[in-house]
Amino acid sequence: MSAPNEFLNQLADSAPRHLEELMEWLRIPSVSSDSSRLIEVKQAATWVADKLQQAGLEVEILPTQGHPMVFAQSPEIEGAPVVLVYGHYDVQPVEPLDEWVSGPFEPTIRDGNIYARGATDDKGQVLTHVQSVCDWLASGNSLPLQIKFLIEGEEEVGSENLERMLPELSEKLACDCVVISDSGQYSDGQPAITYGLRGIATYELTVAGPSQDLHSGSFGGAVMNPAIALCQMLGTMVDGEGRVQLPGYYDKVQDLSDEERRQWSELPQDDPQFALAIGVESLFGEKGYTTDERRWARPTFDVNGLTSGHQGEGVKTIIPASATAKFSFRLVPDQDPCKVTASVEQHLKNHSPPGVRWTLKPDHGAPGMLASTDSRFVHAANRAIESAFGVLPVLIREGGSIPIVTRFQEVLGCDCLLLGWGLSDDNAHSPNEKFRVEDYHRGIRASAILWDEIGKLN
Ligand code: BES
Ligand code: ZN
Repeated sequence: MSAPNEFLNQLADSAPRHLEELMEWLRIPSVSSDSSRLIEVKQAATWVADKLQQAGLEVEILPTQGHPMVFAQSPEIEGAPVVLVYGHYDVQPVEPLDEWVSGPFEPTIRDGNIYARGATDDKGQVLTHVQSVCDWLASGNSLPLQIKFLIEGEEEVGSENLERMLPELSEKLACDCVVISDSGQYSDGQPAITYGLRGIATYELTVAGPSQDLHSGSFGGAVMNPAIALCQMLGTMVDGEGRVQLPGYYDKVQDLSDEERRQWSELPQDDPQFALAIGVESLFGEKGYTTDERRWARPTFDVNGLTSGHQGEGVKTIIPASATAKFSFRLVPDQDPCKVTASVEQHLKNHSPPGVRWTLKPDHGAPGMLASTDSRFVHAANRAIESAFGVLPVLIREGGSIPIVTRFQEVLGCDCLLLGWGLSDDNAHSPNEKFRVEDYHRGIRASAILWDEIGKLN
């Protein structure tokens, strides 16, 4: 059965309602890392659960040790493919608040974009699939495949509860393919299918010195300054071109194939434009690799936050009692996050100065992911995206992480299809996050056509 044209036309007629509903969801401040937002996080789960239930899906809110997950499914159709749409309703913190032009939870439309935290990452993107399925059912047509949804509230904090529960959920989540829209297009007007993601390993390191802050005149020169110790320790992690100095760090790194490098070299990459867009004079990174190669397929080290001593107005001449850094590594296939942790501990033991104590707290870890570039689902997505965006998608990898994807591959034994509707200047995780309204609507259309194309596969 083919997606009736009438239904696709109706989708366009429903555009104002689709946008209104996204704005409603974006108004709920579901910051998963903020323990004062427990109620709002739950409200965001309930909002999408209600929407799916009203469309006639069988819906369950699955409690976890942390934030709840929303599971929904349409009836099984014998012999038809089963697709699981995975996404997240939780969002990143919003600070620095004063850099937002409009409030992060007051969605506002400017210049064809909808601005709000979660607009692109990931409420706006996952809602494209929710809308296409709800509208399909509302049109009175039956779906040509079985669709399941798993929309969780802890992706931005590492998906640890989902990972723990995945084996017991494997029957419920069983599918032929997981479809995820939590990535981006390659560039404006050039949609992409993402077949690789980097993994991640994150840490908090605290260096402690004197039992309280000291006058730097009276004590400077006599004690090790914890902030300096911390900077020195962090400085030993990378060399001047960003190569990570941990022992064995590159041992398992999968090299890029010549074919992959050739394909990526055909993408219209523009370094000066890229630098300009993010406000830097020049780009930086490992020699011998292009910018896309470094962002997508090379492992890195980054400091995500630094805290110590006086941060207020004016001068306060102290030796701070302690200093803390949050840092992370982006990993590539086949690096193991647990081995990275062991190696960070060993490295810090070898590189900590005398006179301070330190503690390392590993947070979350996930390996890098590679998916098929030639599956029947990729082919179906090519047709759907071409039809909705007017151009065939390019095949790319991305540098961000979706912690649970490799576990889906291993535990559910399914294919993974990553279709990103976002743009690289959508400001995910930054102030003024946005999603282009047109991409939201094209995403809904591509999604509807995708169900039709996948339904035709068997
Ligand atoms: N949507 C991103 C993942 C992503 C980013 C894919 C860029 C492709 C390009 C996701 O929501 C995310 O931000 N994940 C976190 C996971 C971390 C907090 C464990 C990330 O990558 O930092
Ligand atoms: Zn994110």
